[in-house]
Amino acid sequence: MLLGVNIDHIATLRNARGGIEPNVLTAARMCIDLGASSITTHLREDRRHIKDSDVQSIRNLSKVRLNLEMAMTDEMQEIALKLRPHAVCIVPEKRQELTTEGGLDVAGQLERATKFVRPLIEKGIEVSMFIDADISQVSAAYKCGVPFIELHTGRYSEDFGTDKEEESFQALKGAATFAQTLGLKVNAGHGLNYENVKRMHEIPDLVELNIGHSIIARAVFVGLSQAVEEMKKLVEEK
Ligand code: PXP
Repeated sequence: MLLGVNIDHIATLRNARGGIEPNVLTAARMCIDLGASSITTHLREDRRHIKDSDVQSIRNLSKVRLNLEMAMTDEMQEIALKLRPHAVCIVPEKRQELTTEGGLDVAGQLERATKFVRPLIEKGIEVSMFIDADISQVSAAYKCGVPFIELHTGRYSEDFGTDKEEESFQALKGAATFAQTLGLKVNAGHGLNYENVKRMHEIPDLVELNIGHSIIARAVFVGLSQAVEEMKKLVEEK
């Protein structure tokens, strides 16, 4: 399985002060140098974290495979067709949500979705649809002609460690297996952390996991000791 790292929250932190630190390009390069298979960013309609200039700069980096998450809007389609990221993941988007709350309803808008992805696929962009572990959504994504789906692991992540875990996990596994019998390649992500990620190995042939929040959150604590040590030295030494 491959690891795609979502660096949106590097940008969240940067935007808190409006400067350039922490630098998203440095983060993207570091993740790739450390073995991440791709860099995922969600260019949201409200640009609350990643900005247009960020995705362009990341796209310009050699060696970095960019997976652009975006809503199914004309604006985003135009951006993607110009930018030509290596991959695009179509996600639902609600302005007020804190994060992507559920999967895209492909079944409920099959014609629109099929039309939307066609030019992207024709440009050679690897298109994926972020959907819930639901057989009707998997079938609809297949009908759209995309090569990939990304299964939303949010429910499984929330249910992890509770008596609902098994049901949520089996739904993911069933949806992944069904998708694979149709010839779809399957990624997964959302809410995965250092505990619940382990069960992803029980789902055969998942291609890539896209993980953001837990990695950036852990990076704070893994990095805090060095950061304090370095500053303490500078403060104490003349
Ligand atoms: N995959 C998709 C399609 C997402 O929208 C997100 C969140 O932006 C993720 C993966 C990563 O989720 P998390 O930050 O919870 O790891």
